[in-house]
This record gives sequence, C-alpha cells and structure tokens, in this order.
Amino acid sequence: MILQLGTFDYLTAPAVRLVNTAPLWAALPRLSPERPLARLLAVADTLRREDILAGFRQVATPEAHLPSGVLACRLDYEEFIHANVQAVRYTRVYLVLDSVLGEDATLALLGAYGVQAWPLDHELPRPFARARVYWDHLQSEDGRYFALLRSRNNQYGRLLHPQTLHSLLAQEFPLWVALQVSTYTAGETAALLRQKSAMALYGEGKTEESRHESALAVEGVQVVREVLARGEALHAARLYVLVDGETLAECRQRQEIVRGACGLDLERVYGAGGEVEELFSGSVRPQPRLFSLLGSDATRDGTPLTTSGVAILAGSALSYRRRTEQRGVMLGVDRNQAPVILNLFDDRAPSYNMVVLGQTGSGKTFAVQLLMMRHLLLGTRLILIDPQGNIDLSFLGQEVYQRSVLGTSQAAVNVLDVVQDEVGGQVELALSLLRILGVHSGQALERALLDEALLTLYMPCFQQGAPSPTLGDLQAAMERQAGRYQSATVREVAERLTLTLGIYTRGSQAALFGRPTSVDFRLEHAVNVYDVSKLPHQGLGGNLRTALLAILVASINQGIRRRRSLRDRAPILFFVDEMGILMRDAVIAEYISSEYKTARARLVGMIVADQDLHSLLGPRDEKGLHHGVPMLANAANVLLFNQKDSERARVQEHFPTLPEKVVEVLPILPRGTCVASLPDDLLIVSVLPSDLERIVFSSRMQDRERAREIVQRLQLELERSR
Ligand SMILES: Nc1ncnc2c1ncn2[C@@H]1O[C@H](COP(=O)(O)OP(=O)(O)OP(=O)(O)O)[C@@H](O)[C@H]1O
Ligand SMILES: [Mg+2]
Repeated sequence: MILQLGTFDYLTAPAVRLVNTAPLWAALPRLSPERPLARLLAVADTLRREDILAGFRQVATPEAHLPSGVLACRLDYEEFIHANVQAVRYTRVYLVLDSVLGEDATLALLGAYGVQAWPLDHELPRPFARARVYWDHLQSEDGRYFALLRSRNNQYGRLLHPQTLHSLLAQEFPLWVALQVSTYTAGETAALLRQKSAMALYGEGKTEESRHESALAVEGVQVVREVLARGEALHAARLYVLVDGETLAECRQRQEIVRGACGLDLERVYGAGGEVEELFSGSVRPQPRLFSLLGSDATRDGTPLTTSGVAILAGSALSYRRRTEQRGVMLGVDRNQAPVILNLFDDRAPSYNMVVLGQTGSGKTFAVQLLMMRHLLLGTRLILIDPQGNIDLSFLGQEVYQRSVLGTSQAAVNVLDVVQDEVGGQVELALSLLRILGVHSGQALERALLDEALLTLYMPCFQQGAPSPTLGDLQAAMERQAGRYQSATVREVAERLTLTLGIYTRGSQAALFGRPTSVDFRLEHAVNVYDVSKLPHQGLGGNLRTALLAILVASINQGIRRRRSLRDRAPILFFVDEMGILMRDAVIAEYISSEYKTARARLVGMIVADQDLHSLLGPRDEKGLHHGVPMLANAANVLLFNQKDSERARVQEHFPTLPEKVVEVLPILPRGTCVASLPDDLLIVSVLPSDLERIVFSSRMQDRERAREIVQRLQLELERSR
C-alpha cells in the first residue's frame, strides 16, 4: 500500500507536528504483523518559473478574449513572474506499508494521529524503469548513472533533530530518499535487551578500553529501558539516498555532496540493484530474487532507535515543505523565497472568502487590490468598495471598468431599497437603518408605527415588483397615520417621526438620502469600484456612513443575485474595506455575516478588511455573541498583517490553531508582509507587487501619472506586436 503524506513548513508548523508519526511506528507490529516494516519515501524535485507560468496559463482567460487594458496587465504580470520567481526545491513524501487494515482505515488512523495522508493519485515517481547493475553504480536505460548510499548502523556522535535532513533535501539535483523503519515487538525487545546486558556484563575484558565500552553498553541498555517504560518501542532504522548524474563523474560528485549534507553518516552500497528495486517497489514484502547478496533479512539491519528518534527523523523529511501550487496567481513569496500562488476559487476550498487584518498602513488594502487585479486575469469579476477614493483603474478601459462616486447628487442611494427576499427581513433591516439614522430610538410604539407603514409600503414591491419606496414615501405615510389615530400619545409619536424624517427628505441630508437610488448596481462591468470617500466621515456623521455603507453592500449583494439569475457564472470577488463600521449594529452585522456564510453558493468570494479583531467582530449581543465570529469561521483564507502586541490574546482566542511562534511575529511584521492562513497552508508572505502595481495601488497622488505612462507604453507594445 502506498499513501501520499502531507508535508508542512518547519517555520510555521506547531512543534508537535514534527513527531506526529510516532504512534505509527510504534503500531507497526499490530498493523503489519508478518513484517513490521514501513518505508517513508521522499522525492525531491524542483519547481521552475516555467512551471509557474504554465500553471497560470492553464487557468487564465485566453489572451484573445481580453480587452486591451486587461491584456496590458497580463503582459505586466507575466513579465513580473519571469523576473521574480526563483526555482524552488520541494519534496513529495510517500508512505509504503502493508497494513492489515484496508487503505481507508489506515488513512483514518493516520488522520487520528494528526498525519495528513491521501490515497496515491499518481504513479510513484521512480528514478528509472530498468537499469544495469555494476559494482558501485547502476546505469539506467536512458544512460544516466545512479549510486546508492545508506546510513551506517553506528551513528556515533550524530544528533537527531528536526532539520537533520533539510540541507540534504535542499540540494539542487534530483534525490530519492527512503527511510526504512522496522519495529521490534515487545518480546523481541526484551530478548534483545537481555542479550545486550549479558554481553556487557560478561564481555568486560581486561583493558581499560573494553571496560569503558561495557560500562557504556550498560548505560545504553538502562536508557532504552527507561524510554520503553514510557511506552515507546525499539526500531531499526536505515536511511537510503539515491543520486543520479549524466556522467559517472557527476554521479560520484553528487554522492560526496550528499554525504556532506546529510545529518547522518552514510556509506556507499555496492551492487545495489536488489536494494534499489525493493526500495521503489511500493511494497514492504521482500522481492523474489534469484541471487540475493543480502542473504538474511536485511530489514532488521539499521541503527537502533527509539520511537521518538524515528519520529524526529520522519518529521525532518515531512517538514521540508515548499508550497508547490502552480494554478493561480502569485500573492508574494514566503520566507523560503518560494512563490505563493493561489486561486481563491479553488473548488476544494471550503469557502472563497478572505479576512484581512492589519494596523493602519500595514498594507491590507494594497495586498487585496493586488490579489484582486491578478484574479481579474483568471476571469474573475471584481467589486471594490473604496473608502479612500484613490483606486483608479481607468486604464483598464470603459468596457471593463466602472466607477461610481457615492454621496454626490448624481449618485444617491436610497436606504429603503429592497434588498431582502422576504418582506419581514426587509422591514427589519429598514427599521434598523432608520434607527442608525436617528429617526427612532427603538421604543415599542415608534417601531410599531414604522413597522405598519413600512409593511404597507413594501407589499406592492414584493407582490407586484413595484419600485422601492423612498424616505419621502415613508414620511407621507407617517403623516397619514398621525391623522388617523385617536390616541394623543400615538399621534404625538407619529408626528415626531414625521418631523425627524424631514431631515432626510427636505433638510440638510435630503441630497444624500431623499432620492431614489441612481447608482448602477447591474454589475455589467468586469471591475466595479464604489468610491465612498465622499460619504459623511466616521465621527462627524458616523451613523450616516454606517447606514449608507450597509445599504450599499446589501444592494451589491442583491445585484449579484440578479446576475446569477441571468445565468452569469463568472466568479466574483467582493471587497469591503473598513468592515468594522458595519459590524456596530447587530441587525446589519447579522445580515452581513449570513451573506458571508452563503457566498460560496453564489460563487462569490467576500474579502473584508479591518484593523483588528475587536473592530471586525463587532460588539457582543445580549447572548454574549459577536456577530463577526461566523465571518471568521467562514473564511478559508486569512491574512494577518502587523498587529499590536496587545492583540495577542484575542488573536490566540480566535485563531487557536496558530502556533505560538507565528503569533509572536505579528507585532514585528514589516509593511507588506503578512501571515497567510490558506486552506492547506500557513505561511509568512511578503506581498510582491510589479512596478506597475506598486504605483497603481499606491495611495500617493504623484504615482498616478506614472501609472498611466506605464500602461500606455504597454498598450503601445501590444499594438506593435499585433
Ligand atoms: N507589499 C507592498 N509593497 C510595496 N508597497 C506597499 C506594500 N504594501 C503597502 N505598501 C505601501 O504602503 C501604503 C499603505 O498601505 P495600505 O494602504 O494598503 O495600508 P492599509 O493597511 O490598508 O492601511 P489603512 O488601515 O490606513 O487603510 C500603500 O499605499 C503602498 O504605497
Ligand atoms: Mg486600507
């Protein structure tokens, strides 16, 4: 049975992952009673920039379908990959064993140990199909030379640690590494120890040296006994390394490099045909051979190690991890200088959403814009809410790009717009927005009167598809109610509501709130930017801003639903910056959280950004829950930029799987660097812009002109080449 094992990055993995295989090695006599043997195979390979480009082209929109502005971005991106991606060494690790449990049960067992494993979905990468055997090397059919090294039984003075194999795996030529582990049963171990201590006692000779040796042996036996008493087993472990070369000289040279780089003492294997065949056979049963140079059962040969020793060695092979994803776009490079390629719309991801946190100026908005623009090349549609009013992508061309500036008289947003599918939810949302605007204060009577009026106004919308009512319509309805009731108290409340609504229909805020919506939410362009920098600011008109942003987000979501019902199937990335403003009101926070949860079904990736968890999660409701919590739970991707040291406890509470050492770096991350928690990875990423992106996404005005120049140059190049 051959299984694929998941590798992890030594730098970001929790320490315990390094030894998670321990119970596997200890359980071998039960899993494989006939031959308690298993083999870890690590195949090292190189990921080149051509592979990254090919991966991108596989998922990118064909060039012929791209409008010239987007094509210019694509040229820029490919040039950028060419100039910036370095070749990366990575390993794939396989586990070979003959388990009496079936494959599924073995996988489940490994899962329970915390070892990621999958069925083999491709051919085991073998060094060659056939080869001739010479005394100190092999020659494959295609003329390459191979040589095998193995660890000596005696590893005097060598220390095992989780990086023992890393510099070996980092060599730039191909390598096949096998760690063969056999486990002694309890009975065998006891017999072995008895034999060893007897030898130590009776073997004591006359010389100083032999006395010293036997004292050491007694001590060794004692140490092993103590470890076994703690539940570990005894193993024989052997490491094999196969290298190749175009010439015999190259092969021999690499052999020497490997001996220097490996943390274990290696010796050459002569006449290695049988051993190589067995190592890559995909089985731990001995191969039937006519002549076996090995004679007896060679698998019990090897360095005696306890379970934790074997686990550390295995952890060393598993923790040499470089991200190998190729199909997608690049976010930046990790700490090993490996490119971090991702596609937020990967089917396997539980959601397409992303949460981005970082102190002011840490690079959140910049990173999200970069990631979104690169996704545009994959055919993703983009919606951005721009709080600072400095996103200018006009170079993309009118065919692709639409920008609406909200809060001006040409772009009014009506807070009563229908954005919910049911009238009950719609009335509740409207009541909440009216409260944020200060129209009412939540008293029962006020709510009852508004509820009645809103229901009457909304019914025709839900029944006959009538246009949404405006605040003016609501005011008129209130006025009518004031006249209708006998009770002086009710009349007084209705009159008060009519009066406060006046601020938004005739008074100072009428231009912003009093009209039907004139913003285009049809989302007909590939890139839609909603500039909200002209809306009243936090502080001054904080509530007005919240209400308008809430209705904006809701209208866009409604627009997305409409596009979906028109059979538009392009994935959509929807970015809401400064999310915390919306999380202050419980009803709106709950609405947004539920949209966030269900976004995957609409093929939408929602990206929200804010400074810290406190702001993003919003206040606790009466049950003590934060409405923002489901948002975190439904974000498959999280980018954490610089966070204040005082945030540590909150970060640990809400991201309990983040290892301590990763949480520790958050306060010292420089601008543009983040901890990226992706569906299958945890990395520290430096977000890397191209020259064009650096100035297009910069908040500095003087960069604008240069951006335009670069794009014009690219477009000119394009025209010439056509
Ligand atoms: N990866 C990067 N490479 C180069 N420059 C960057 C990078 N990230 C950010 N910058 C620069 O830093 C500036 C501030 O970044 P950004 O606007 O993204 O911060 P922010 O976290 O969104 O802050 P705020 O909370 O104030 O909105 C950007 O305008 C850009 O010029
Ligand atoms: Mg920002």
